[in-house]
Amino acid sequence: MAGIDSVEGFEPRFKRVKPPEEGERIKVVDGKLVVPDKPIVAYIEGDGIGPEIVAAARRVIDAAVEVAYGGRRRIVWWELYAGHKAMKIYGELLPEDTLNGIRYTLVALKGPLETPVGGGYRSLNVAIRQALDLYANIRPVYYLGQPAPHCYAEHDNFVIFRENTEDLYAGIEWPADSPEAKKLREFLKREFGIVLREDAGIGLKPISRFATHRIMRKALRWAIDHGNKIVTIMHKGNIMKYTEGAFREWAYEVALKEFRDYVVTEQELYEKYGGKLPEGKILVNDRIADNMLQQIITRPWDYEVIVTPNVNGDYISDEANALVGGIGMAAGMNAGDFMAVAEPVHGTAPKYAGKDLANPTAEILSGALLLEAMLGWKEAAQMIREAIKRAIKEKKVTQDLARHMKDVKPLRTSEYTEVLIQYLREMKP
Ligand code: NAI
Repeated sequence: MAGIDSVEGFEPRFKRVKPPEEGERIKVVDGKLVVPDKPIVAYIEGDGIGPEIVAAARRVIDAAVEVAYGGRRRIVWWELYAGHKAMKIYGELLPEDTLNGIRYTLVALKGPLETPVGGGYRSLNVAIRQALDLYANIRPVYYLGQPAPHCYAEHDNFVIFRENTEDLYAGIEWPADSPEAKKLREFLKREFGIVLREDAGIGLKPISRFATHRIMRKALRWAIDHGNKIVTIMHKGNIMKYTEGAFREWAYEVALKEFRDYVVTEQELYEKYGGKLPEGKILVNDRIADNMLQQIITRPWDYEVIVTPNVNGDYISDEANALVGGIGMAAGMNAGDFMAVAEPVHGTAPKYAGKDLANPTAEILSGALLLEAMLGWKEAAQMIREAIKRAIKEKKVTQDLARHMKDVKPLRTSEYTEVLIQYLREMKP
């Protein structure tokens, strides 16, 4: 039901929503997305500040698309429900209609969702990712001139590909006092002579060749599409040899078997090319995780695309975003082979909900990521980033950024959105 099977030939049935009559469906033909000029794109408002920032993002995206393509292209938005709004309409937090809706549109923009405390889902976001097999968490890190703590911030321009389905975060774990943990401790002692403490909880870290291959493939395709020159495999293979070490090995396997014409390894770079990357080639190298966490601070110019298992990916993407000024700017997208849900890295920021104070930039940049990576509308995405850059330069920012700048009167979410739309209208396609 997940991945490609859910895409090709998928004819959904909906209970309470209906795809808009206007607009056309994005399709997969011969293993490629085919995007019409008026594609139907789903959106989920989400909880907390979600409705405000998703509304802002849709308006900014619409303006960018209109200016970039002179009215020839337009997104036809379709609302789907999750979280509190879904509870009101369906009596459940994540209705099947919503998952089917995304399977239908293939592309969705999502606001943050509150994780219900106790019972039900571990997290709605995780449930969506799992149901749709969105195995790649893609997090671009841009420096757009915002107040940033990093002295080399202008070099911070990375895209992190974090594997979403495996590793210690796959949720295979048991509390110390559970019968399962007891059984496992006994099994380990009996079969392998491994003695764990009686009060040890246990988590498992699966990493497969299959999942490694597909995330590496995605990272390399991104690098080819975006003209990146370096793809770095981040791993802790010196210690966890058969999980993180295997991730490294399998990632190289894909690079050298499937992308041989594009790829140069670090060894080849020095032995064959005298340390100078030939035109049109991509350097694929690898770095140990702890070193990598330092390197993006000390030598950010050496990194462009970073591909890594789940736990490392969590650490490095938050670190990278902190370097450029934090959460209000951090965009993300969860993608499968032909499906993607873009969402900001931050949560529902309940203290700002309904107050017109939240920074919508992360949501807007997530939308730009969809435009660029899924619809192939790169010009509109680039214009959005330019408009944000200009707003920051002219000190037209929301309170979270304004408080790190001198003598700046913060804008409300709605005022900031208007500024961006104005800047977009002043641009030439
Ligand atoms: P949070 O990201 O909502 O807030 C962390 C801090 O950043 C707070 O001080 C908040 O006010 C601020 N902040 C976040 N986004 C902002 C924005 N756009 N503009 C200005 N300030 C912003 O994280 P927290 O408090 O840990 O989680 C709140 C809820 O969000 C929880 O229910 C959590 O489960 C959920 N969450 C959902 C995510 C998602 O849907 N992808 C991701 C992270 C958390």
